[in-house]
Amino acid sequence: MRLTIGIILVVLLMTSCVNSYVGITYGRQQSQQLVPSMVVDMLLQNKISAVRFMTSASDIIQIFAATNISTTIRLTNRMTNNINKKHLAVAWLNEKIKVPANKGVKIVGLAVGAEPFSNTFLNDIPKFDAVASISLMREVLDEMDFRHVITTTAHGVDVFNVSKVPSETGFRDDVKGVMLKLLEFYNKTGAPFVVNMFPLHIVRDVLNCPIEFTFFDNMSNLTITDGNATYTNAVELIYDSVVSAITNAGYSTMKIVIGEIGWPTDGYPYANIKNAERFYKGLLKFIASEKGTPLRPGSIDIYLHSLSDENKFGRMYGAFQRHWGIYEADGNPKYKIDFTLQDRDEYPYKAKGIVSMPRRWCMFNGDTSNLELVRKNFNFACGITDCTPLEEGGSCGGLSEESKFSYAFNGCYQRQRQVKQACDFDGLGIITTENPSQDKCEFAVEVLALEDHLTANTEILLKV
Ligand SMILES: *[C@@H]1O[C@H](CO)[C@@H](O)[C@H](O)[C@H]1NC(C)=O
Ligand SMILES: *[C@@H]1O[C@H](CO)[C@@H](O)[C@H](O)[C@H]1NC(C)=O
Ligand SMILES: *[C@@H]1O[C@H](CO)[C@@H](O)[C@H](O)[C@H]1NC(C)=O
Ligand SMILES: *[C@@H]1O[C@H](CO)[C@@H](O)[C@H](O)[C@H]1NC(C)=O
Ligand SMILES: *[C@@H]1O[C@H](CO)[C@@H](O)[C@H](O)[C@H]1NC(C)=O
Ligand SMILES: *[C@@H]1O[C@H](CO)[C@@H](O)[C@H](O)[C@H]1NC(C)=O
Repeated sequence: MRLTIGIILVVLLMTSCVNSYVGITYGRQQSQQLVPSMVVDMLLQNKISAVRFMTSASDIIQIFAATNISTTIRLTNRMTNNINKKHLAVAWLNEKIKVPANKGVKIVGLAVGAEPFSNTFLNDIPKFDAVASISLMREVLDEMDFRHVITTTAHGVDVFNVSKVPSETGFRDDVKGVMLKLLEFYNKTGAPFVVNMFPLHIVRDVLNCPIEFTFFDNMSNLTITDGNATYTNAVELIYDSVVSAITNAGYSTMKIVIGEIGWPTDGYPYANIKNAERFYKGLLKFIASEKGTPLRPGSIDIYLHSLSDENKFGRMYGAFQRHWGIYEADGNPKYKIDFTLQDRDEYPYKAKGIVSMPRRWCMFNGDTSNLELVRKNFNFACGITDCTPLEEGGSCGGLSEESKFSYAFNGCYQRQRQVKQACDFDGLGIITTENPSQDKCEFAVEVLALEDHLTANTEILLKV
């Protein structure tokens, strides 16, 4: 008996001695959104203790009451421009922070927009005056007595001139002035420096290193030496580049949080499930070790990007933006990952209570006598569903042209909850119960989501 208790204690100590925390980001630009309570259940079952919302929708925030999950609320870039007067800030913060906090939601941060100075992927998002906006929010939060809610904005790695010499990193010339002002603000208000990183992109397009350098299992045999520091993977190198830049600016002790890090599974070279699993496995082992980097030994706080795919995310920055999810949009995990930092070789918990629609698919009937009409319907379908997997290098990029038509038809049909008329396509569509998925290319069946549970669409379903 005593021995058992001893073992339990040791296990408890072993699992709780890791100081780093692993949070996750959660966005809602999906055609079928998971029911918020399912999301909370998924996070609790996986023991994920922190979440950064990409949204400020009150319905989802309030579900986190009494969960002890630390939440960071997002004021979207678009909204930063609308909420530019004190009384507007008071009203917004009241609704999005004060009310949910009073109901027991543990709100630890407010992200005022994201990547305001990025010019790589987010170059056409609305720009905003980050210093003015963040100062206004801080002022109002202080007056509301919410001093513990940290105000920050996340920065992309492209605000730095990252190179193979981390110690020489500085800010991009055109943003240097404003970044120094923000650093001063973060320091004054006790906020960390939040950086979002996409290591695969940086290794491939910025550092021009072998892709292997992105992974932690060190198969590239590439080492980059900078003074006394040696780097065998990109994450440590990028992290130390940030350390150097803010140290060079005079803030050697400022805390750094990785606000987003991840590996998409489609729509970008090397973006696939196998690589994503490998990347996260190495990353989480590294985080669990708490060894830190050459310039910053110790624990690192990260948010994995992202909980689930967002098939309605703007695709002007690249198809991969829709495929960041560790889970599919329907709550099924794509690969093995151990959020508890114990390196177990297991799939994470999947969302409970997911109900799939019947196993039936809409296909192109193969009639190519009027190709123009087929193309017209294909384009129409792709306007409704996400066709990015069909692009070259995508998971369905290898399909024959006819199968590509089917993929689009099916997506459109599923998106419309399998309503029979949605598989018409001028007579070119046909419904089948045989799963047409091939290899890595999945022809998905839609799941019933929040709205369906709320009966809004039950009527349509019954009509089928
Ligand atoms: C709530 O979470 C914090 C860490 O964020 C932890 O220290 C605390 O023990 C948790 N409280 C409960 C009641 O689980
Ligand atoms: C980056 O910027 C810093 C500060 O402006 C400068 O000292 C450094 O030489 C630059 N590094 C590269 C690789 O351009
Ligand atoms: C940062 O803030 C601390 C107080 O928290 C202050 O002592 C320090 O001088 C500040 N650093 C700079 C470079 O302003
Ligand atoms: C890295 O080194 C190992 C052991 O020396 C070798 O087997 C492997 O082929 C090397 N990998 C590359 C990519 O050169
Ligand atoms: C990574 O590979 C390099 C070159 O083969 C080697 O010198 C280094 O010790 C390895 N690092 C780790 C952490 O295994
Ligand atoms: C590098 O290591 C040497 C010897 O251990 C030490 O004297 C020096 O201060 C170190 N340099 C840096 C930049 O840490």
